[in-house]
Amino acid sequence: RAEDGAELPPAERGVRVPPGVTVFDAASWNGIAIDSTCGGHGTCHKCKVRISPQADVPVTRHDRRTFTDAQLGDGWRLGCLVNATRDLAVEVPPLTTRPKAATVGIGRQVILRPALQKRYVELAEATLSDQRTDLVRLTDAIDDLELKADVHVLRRLSSVLRQSDFKVTAVIVDEDLIDVEPGDTTGARYAIAFDLGTTTVVGTLLDVGTGTPVAVTSMLNAQQPFGGDVITRISATMMDDQALGRLQQAAAATLAQLAAQVCREGGVDPQHVYEVAVAGNATMTALALGIDPEPLGVAPFVMSAAQPPSVLASEIGLSLHPRARAFFFPALGAYVGGDIVAGMLATGMDRDKRTRLFIDVGTNCEIVLSDGEKILSTAAPAGPAFEGGAIRCGMRAADGAIEVIKVDATASGDAPAVTLGVIGDVEPKGLCGSGLVDAVAELVRVGMLDATGRLVTEEAAKEVAPALADRLAMVGEERVFVLHRPTPDAEPAECVYLSQRDVRELQFAKAAISTGWSLLLEELGLEHRDVQQVLLAGSFGSYLSPASAVRIGLVPKLPVLRIVAAGNVAGEGAKMALLSVRERAGALALLEEVTYVELSDRPDFNEAFVDQLSFKA
Ligand code: FES
Repeated sequence: RAEDGAELPPAERGVRVPPGVTVFDAASWNGIAIDSTCGGHGTCHKCKVRISPQADVPVTRHDRRTFTDAQLGDGWRLGCLVNATRDLAVEVPPLTTRPKAATVGIGRQVILRPALQKRYVELAEATLSDQRTDLVRLTDAIDDLELKADVHVLRRLSSVLRQSDFKVTAVIVDEDLIDVEPGDTTGARYAIAFDLGTTTVVGTLLDVGTGTPVAVTSMLNAQQPFGGDVITRISATMMDDQALGRLQQAAAATLAQLAAQVCREGGVDPQHVYEVAVAGNATMTALALGIDPEPLGVAPFVMSAAQPPSVLASEIGLSLHPRARAFFFPALGAYVGGDIVAGMLATGMDRDKRTRLFIDVGTNCEIVLSDGEKILSTAAPAGPAFEGGAIRCGMRAADGAIEVIKVDATASGDAPAVTLGVIGDVEPKGLCGSGLVDAVAELVRVGMLDATGRLVTEEAAKEVAPALADRLAMVGEERVFVLHRPTPDAEPAECVYLSQRDVRELQFAKAAISTGWSLLLEELGLEHRDVQQVLLAGSFGSYLSPASAVRIGLVPKLPVLRIVAAGNVAGEGAKMALLSVRERAGALALLEEVTYVELSDRPDFNEAFVDQLSFKA
């Protein structure tokens, strides 16, 4: 109700969900809470929703027990017993109890329902008249779950019960009883979300009871010495029998070091970490699991399995609780991996009615397009330009890298013609990916680069951009544009510059990417202007200037406000999988929902690629 007591219309929201999920789960995935104490198991009879009577949803015996005939006729049902197999209008009454929720990813409200649960129970001691087994005594006390216990628990159960006066905490992952701890340890429920990147690996320690991140840390992937990208690491395993084992060990060492560090920083005993989720591309996932990645590197690019089986965390080198589990995100294809599935989860690509484009810019660029009904994905080999590779003065985004460039073609007097933003505010040493995109976009804008990507001559520069003409120089046979002179009389070769060949490298990279999304748009019969939001994901995409990305044609020609830096969405997706079993199921459902489009197969690919090379307005 409004402050004056007037009744407000209920908020209306259209959401999209995988077909066949229950209305209860569908609501939960979209951050809409429905009353429940049984978590959707059909036993609490609290998840009352009203479904438009025209939908004529079948009545179950549980519905009959809960509602009057008049209510049933009016559309009232238990939400966890209705499957959303077609469009339904559902009215959700206000909550009588508040659920716990956390905001994760791009504004996603995740209602906490972690696979990891702890239950404190005080059991009656066994007597001659009550000779139930120890396990039955425990499972009787937790009768809303169908607990399964393995031999590791049975080995400890009797002694833990007796040493702690039958006051214990059951540790449950999914419905598996993985441990019984003396006393009440329900406050210590932790899990670690890993974003297992080819370059950088990030670990986040989460309190799954509250959804709060306790500590976050990152480090370079220790597989770096085997090569900077997935292809060189796959090649390493093809040339050397020992390399797979060594790459697996390097992944394990990286994950273990991060896990130890976040536990130390968060003041958490590693024994209280019971689950991890890993979001990585198909190659990183294969290497972490010790699976031969060779088929991923050669046509027809086949994965050993889309969904890796759950393993014990100790099998991937982690020293956490000995029965801790590791969940790996499934992959849609050899080059649209678990990191992208996690990113789709974090950005709600499958739960939004808008037309949205997701681009993870990198050496391999993954692209996902959803029109609110269908979801398509593809991969575009963009090459190393965005990571600073193959660029004369290229470098990673580290201290000394120029990341922002602004150009004033008519500057005079003391006004600078070129303004640089440098990481760490130190002397510029090179150009990182976002700086490269900015440099090219700015030079296209002021006419120093023509539509074909050619740097203009000095004479032409004096016409179009007089303040910049003296920055044109030759390094060897190549025309360059000087961005930074370390000293006034430095030779061009000693400067930080953008070369003609660098521009070509960027043109090829951007053409690969824009061919990818333009062919996906064509598949769905859409134009640039139909795209309501572009999400730039990944560590590089997030730092890209939207205006520059539009100017060089890396993204569709759209108002910059429609272009959003999405950040580390893979890591956010990994957190979501730990905080909610429904989100995890949502990730698995993407395997069915998303159609992978192979670009290299298409007869129109070359023509589209050539068309995308230019910087036309
Ligand atoms: Fe408990 Fe539906 S959620 S009966």
